Amino acid sequence: MEYPFVFETKNICIDYQLKKYSLRAVNKVSLSIHKGSITALVGESGSGKTTIATALINCISEPGKIVEGEVLYYHDGTYNQQFGNAKQIDDHTYVTHVEKMDTQQLNFFRWLEASMVFQGAQSALNPLMTIFEQFFETMRVHQNTPMPYKKFKEKVEKRSREVLDIVNLDSDRVLKMYAHELSGGMKQRVMIAFALLLQPKFIILDEPTTALDVITQDYIFKILQKINREQGITMLLLTHDVGIVAKFADYVGVMYGGQLMEFGTTMDIFKQRLHPYTDGLISSTPSIIADVSKLESIPGNPVDIRNLPLGCVFAPRCHKCFHRCEIERPHRHYFPNGHQVLCHLYSEKTKGDQHE
Ligand SMILES: Nc1ncnc2c1ncn2[C@@H]1O[C@H](COP(=O)(O)OP(=O)(O)OP(=O)(O)O)[C@@H](O)[C@H]1O
Ligand SMILES: [Mg+2]
Repeated sequence: MEYPFVFETKNICIDYQLKKYSLRAVNKVSLSIHKGSITALVGESGSGKTTIATALINCISEPGKIVEGEVLYYHDGTYNQQFGNAKQIDDHTYVTHVEKMDTQQLNFFRWLEASMVFQGAQSALNPLMTIFEQFFETMRVHQNTPMPYKKFKEKVEKRSREVLDIVNLDSDRVLKMYAHELSGGMKQRVMIAFALLLQPKFIILDEPTTALDVITQDYIFKILQKINREQGITMLLLTHDVGIVAKFADYVGVMYGGQLMEFGTTMDIFKQRLHPYTDGLISSTPSIIADVSKLESIPGNPVDIRNLPLGCVFAPRCHKCFHRCEIERPHRHYFPNGHQVLCHLYSEKTKGDQHE
């Protein structure tokens, strides 16, 4: 049987080492990303979504560092030579430690195997180059084998048309355009086309539709879902938007204060909402059919990660908090269907539970 995951982080801790103190942005997160899935990480601002996602492709922003744990990437071995430290685990699968890759190995890994559409990426388009020139430059930097200019230009043109086609943009028009000539929705689709350019197997999408109207948002997510289903590209989606998650994700991880509070299939998460924080997030999301007067917001403010409470990080805002939550860190509880939750409500001591 084929190995089911593309990525696994194991007990990963990420600190931003600032001048006066160190900030633990990600705290012992073990996250598994299923091959071919759309997995969403949802949580309030500052909960650590971008930090953990950037760790997967080893590009955490300065001065962030992985201080504990490991990031494992499972692949088919195509770039074994370039990766250097790949180890075979079954007939079809190799595993590589991403946190140990050097700059040269990362050059292959990023774009060719895994790419990312960064938060606010629309502004990353170069205002002085046409879209074609930018596609050309990206492919030139990452191409494996040298080839004559004319032949390479033809190759870029062919691939550019293919990827613009996938995101439903008219390549004849768009390739000649500059960033300022594109609408917000078009820019975002160009960024997705960029991420697809070198045929990666995994894409991270960090808030890919923030600042776009709901109809454009929906349209872009339908395109992403089609890419995922038809090309088998695994996606990690980072968002605040619980509605989008319900509609498009296969698995959901709920982040709070740098910890993974709950993880499971979208169906299980929305049906069961084991963690009071997950319940709060879902209950505070408006829907067209639900009675708006029944919407409840989560009381209090997001936790200050410089000053974490002694017990559960969510305890000060939790309406189900009891004494133990205030004095002791919860255990992670694993259910047989793969659903997991970090909460004292479920933490009777069972095999496989981890203290965090
Ligand atoms: N480069 C950096 N230097 C210092 N601290 C940082 C840096 N990047 C992130 N942080 C801190 O790490 C924590 C997690 O930030 P992160 O950006 O991962 O959260 P997020 O869940 O992606 O938030 P958002 O929804 O706002 O994008 C925050 O407290 C943030 O202030
Ligand atoms: Mg972010």
